[in-house]
Amino acid sequence: MPFDIAAIVLAAGAGTRMRSKRPKVLHSLAGRTLLEHALRATQAIEPDALVTVVGHGREAVGAEVDRIGARLGTPIDVAVQDQQLGTGHAVSCGVAAFGDRVPGTIVVTSADVPLLDGATLATLVDTHVGGGAAVTVLTFTPPDPTGYGRIVRDDAGLVTRIVEHADATTEQREIGEVNSGIYAFDGRVLVDALAQLRTDNAQGELYLTDVIELARAAGRYVLASPVSDPTVVLGVNDRIQLAAAGAALNTRLLHLHMSGGVTIVDPASTRVDMDVRIDPDVTLLPGVQLHGTTVVAEGATIGPDTTLTDVEVGAGARVIRTHGEGAVIGPDATVGPFAYLRPGTRLGDAGKIGTFVETKNARIGAHSKVPHLTYVGDATVGEYSNIGASSVFVNYDGVEKNHTVIGSHVRTGSDNMFVAPVRVGDGAYTGAGTVVRADVPPGALSITTGDQRVIEGWVLRKRSGTPSADAAEAALTRVDAAPARPQEHNDNGRRPSTQDGEQ
Ligand code: UD1
Ligand code: CA
Repeated sequence: MPFDIAAIVLAAGAGTRMRSKRPKVLHSLAGRTLLEHALRATQAIEPDALVTVVGHGREAVGAEVDRIGARLGTPIDVAVQDQQLGTGHAVSCGVAAFGDRVPGTIVVTSADVPLLDGATLATLVDTHVGGGAAVTVLTFTPPDPTGYGRIVRDDAGLVTRIVEHADATTEQREIGEVNSGIYAFDGRVLVDALAQLRTDNAQGELYLTDVIELARAAGRYVLASPVSDPTVVLGVNDRIQLAAAGAALNTRLLHLHMSGGVTIVDPASTRVDMDVRIDPDVTLLPGVQLHGTTVVAEGATIGPDTTLTDVEVGAGARVIRTHGEGAVIGPDATVGPFAYLRPGTRLGDAGKIGTFVETKNARIGAHSKVPHLTYVGDATVGEYSNIGASSVFVNYDGVEKNHTVIGSHVRTGSDNMFVAPVRVGDGAYTGAGTVVRADVPPGALSITTGDQRVIEGWVLRKRSGTPSADAAEAALTRVDAAPARPQEHNDNGRRPSTQDGEQ
């Protein structure tokens, strides 16, 4: 294997300022850990070897390295830095992983710089290799350089050294250009210089930045590669910077989607993870968060106020004020407002999951509708069926979850309980208030009988003196005086249904 270029990602620091039990580099932005952002960026330079230096929380960080390696399909070595003796020491630990083989170029980045992109790294390497430099430093000019190492240049513009803020003179602190902590090194120069680092500085650490002076002393020269957009090298040291990096990354992602033909009505209230795919002519209304591997097909409209995680939305679908996870929404389907789609929900073409409806592990076929106030759990519903308002798929007997099957072209009445396991055949009907405990054959009507009892005058006798009793008495007096009204009928002569059979 050629060994031209290698990358070392530093991730051993404690991240104390996060004030977190979780190692800093395992905090997430846009659906990926800081570490994953950093490791992915290195893929643009196609390193022949990639090493992550871990220390604090090494087990959790190491496990995340393995997961990312599997995801990227590339081996990533882990080097352990037992004690954090400085960035120079950390890089020494990383270099040790290469064994006797010294790469031509070694790129060093930090795991806490999530917005660093592959293109910036590729430019750094081009500048470095093209310029024949011993070291090339990615630099930037922040509004406030406090805390950063300052870039000291000679009259020719070449870098002579980097002075850490703590070690800098008042004059040096006036320098606006600073070190991003991202570099390309000549491998040989780096290995030789690391062996000569000393701790005689303000922090008593082995400074990686001292490699520059050592390279100069060896007669080589050092370049700076400035980035114009400081957000690219934004470091995350605390939760305030985490939020700032998240906002900057989100803006970058939304710009990409808008350039690709997605309408985003209110970018400020819209969040989209890295791995989300959105087709052209999708509209995202205000207050939308798309997480995980969510996919939205052409012409769909999402929002307002909708959060979808790992959801697939078909072309032309409408999803309004919905919380969804692990669901598939068919083309031209409608969901919401106020729907809760739980994992395993699959809504067919032009189907409907309406208002105050919760679904879980439920296949609802094409053109079938669950319009209002209903729980559908562990169920299969065929095509062109309508589930009446206020129904519950009673899937849990206290021990096991059971399945309900509803056929196609079924009409179930309002306020039905489907006590699973139970089946309702194609073309069957059920009446309002039915408790479906036994299978209903195709084409049958199932109703729960039990005569309605009416006890005349009960309120007048048992609740006399209440507003209800008074109202009843007044109404009865009016009824006595007026002729009886005929029973209402609609056009087809049937009594009006209480269910609005939405078809
Ligand atoms: C470093 C640079 C500084 C630069 C700044 C940019 C040095 C001496 N200084 O300073 O010039 O402006 O980054 O952010 O390099 N790390 C380890 N092991 C260690 C020490 C650090 O893995 O023993 C890792 C940290 O986890 C972090 C990175 O190296 O990812 C940088 O370390 P940090 O302590 O933040 O360096 P700074 O002092 O900020
Ligand atoms: Ca830092």
